[in-house]
Amino acid sequence: MAKCLSLKEIFSLGEKLIDQEVLVKGWIRSVRKSKTFSFLVLNDGSTQNNLQIIADSGLPNYEAVASMLSGTAVIITGIIKQSGGKGQSIEMHGKAVTIVGPVDEEFPLQKKAHSLEFLREVAHLRARTQTFGAIWRVRNALQFATHKFFNERGFINIHTPIITGLDAEGAGEMFKVTTLHLDHLPKDKGQVDYSQDYFGQETSLSVSGQLQAEAMAIGLGKVYTFGPTFRSENSNTKRHLSEFWMVEPEVAFFELEQVAELAVDYIKYLITYALDNCMDELLFLNHRPMEKGSVLGTSINEKENYIEEIRKVAQATFTQISYTDAMEICSKSGKKFEFPTHWGAEMQTEHERYLAEEHFKGPVIVTDYPKDFKAFYMKQNPDGKTVRAMDILVPGVGEIVGGSQREDNLEKLQNAIKEKKMNDKDLWWYLELRKWGSVPHGGFGLGFERALLYITGMTNVRDIIPFPRTPKNATF
Ligand code: 4AD
Ligand code: MG
Repeated sequence: MAKCLSLKEIFSLGEKLIDQEVLVKGWIRSVRKSKTFSFLVLNDGSTQNNLQIIADSGLPNYEAVASMLSGTAVIITGIIKQSGGKGQSIEMHGKAVTIVGPVDEEFPLQKKAHSLEFLREVAHLRARTQTFGAIWRVRNALQFATHKFFNERGFINIHTPIITGLDAEGAGEMFKVTTLHLDHLPKDKGQVDYSQDYFGQETSLSVSGQLQAEAMAIGLGKVYTFGPTFRSENSNTKRHLSEFWMVEPEVAFFELEQVAELAVDYIKYLITYALDNCMDELLFLNHRPMEKGSVLGTSINEKENYIEEIRKVAQATFTQISYTDAMEICSKSGKKFEFPTHWGAEMQTEHERYLAEEHFKGPVIVTDYPKDFKAFYMKQNPDGKTVRAMDILVPGVGEIVGGSQREDNLEKLQNAIKEKKMNDKDLWWYLELRKWGSVPHGGFGLGFERALLYITGMTNVRDIIPFPRTPKNATF
């Protein structure tokens, strides 16, 4: 029997396969029918490239084969031949075509290009399109690159808990985890009695693995966690998911400058890895045939040469400025912002994007934010007003990285917890990290979907995760 090869294997072996019989399994993209033979275009998900197969009218099931609709699942045996067609070096001459899973007219994916909005409604079928095939392969490549990057630098991968009693970011945007019967909640003095709940305490899905990563770093030195993160913030934007994946390295003896340097190295590594390993995908995404009404062959973000833009970023020095300077730039820009730009005002997406897109025209590292709107754990600066925070902002997206040096002084940390009116009862172990063998340390969180948005040039985070969870939406 002929050897079963993926399209990726076939194209990488290329002309070495000429005159050999191989077996392929996949889905038909299109059929171009003529009397004596038909051109079948097949993809199996392993690569952006499609295989062209010539099906001769001599095939016993030729009529059925020639009338297959886009999306039909097939197994095909054939001989690899030099291609006469433009743009491809090899093709297949079909010997036997087995129709495994037919498609009828009701199948929502037609041969034409669909809008991304429409495809979100059929997320269970998106993997069959060229666009989403490209995105999921890039996503896979960059999660692999993440492990490679940290592994090459001696980081130890740890898994931090998903169920937790702690609100690491202190923003109160957590999904509760409970086995209590919601119609009959046990009460104690009018309050829900969580001592009767599964864990004997109130628990939620984690918003960050950082606190536990710190405990691991103070002992292992360099660690990272890469896991799902849950936030119930009611933000219906192109950059917010209720469930997203975050990469969080944490390093003992690191100060803010080293944290920033690590983040920049990592972002550049991801870009370079994508350029080296996913060029077919990046090219497709940036010259995608658009839905009706748009110009054919433009990229989704309507940039002319996005790939060159990110290639430059992988070589560039990232600008670094303080929050104070950043807000001043916004104030003096003459631009009308919806939100205030005075010192102490929270930096909003519109400010972030102005800085990255219009002012600096590239990624920017912003440091030393006012302590009031940053998390309790950040190292306090001697000025008493700001903390050693570091965000990285990029064009098109805004913040993709949030990090900081951590407060390693027990007393100062206790004060910050008090100031933020947080409950320190459950933080006892986190405070103990500062009691014994405490060291300066720091880390960051990179939102994996936001980083992918930036690198692929896509514009909506819902198109970067296979089955997005957003307010009022947990279908699929
Ligand atoms: O800035 P954040 O909230 O930082 C932390 O959670 C820290 N504990 C990280 C650390 O220092 N270990 O989140 C980090 C990143 C953001 O920069 C953003 O890229 C992403 O996570 N992010 C989201 N991505 C998608 N949807 C959301 N709702 C997100 N919220 C944050
Ligand atoms: Mg942040």
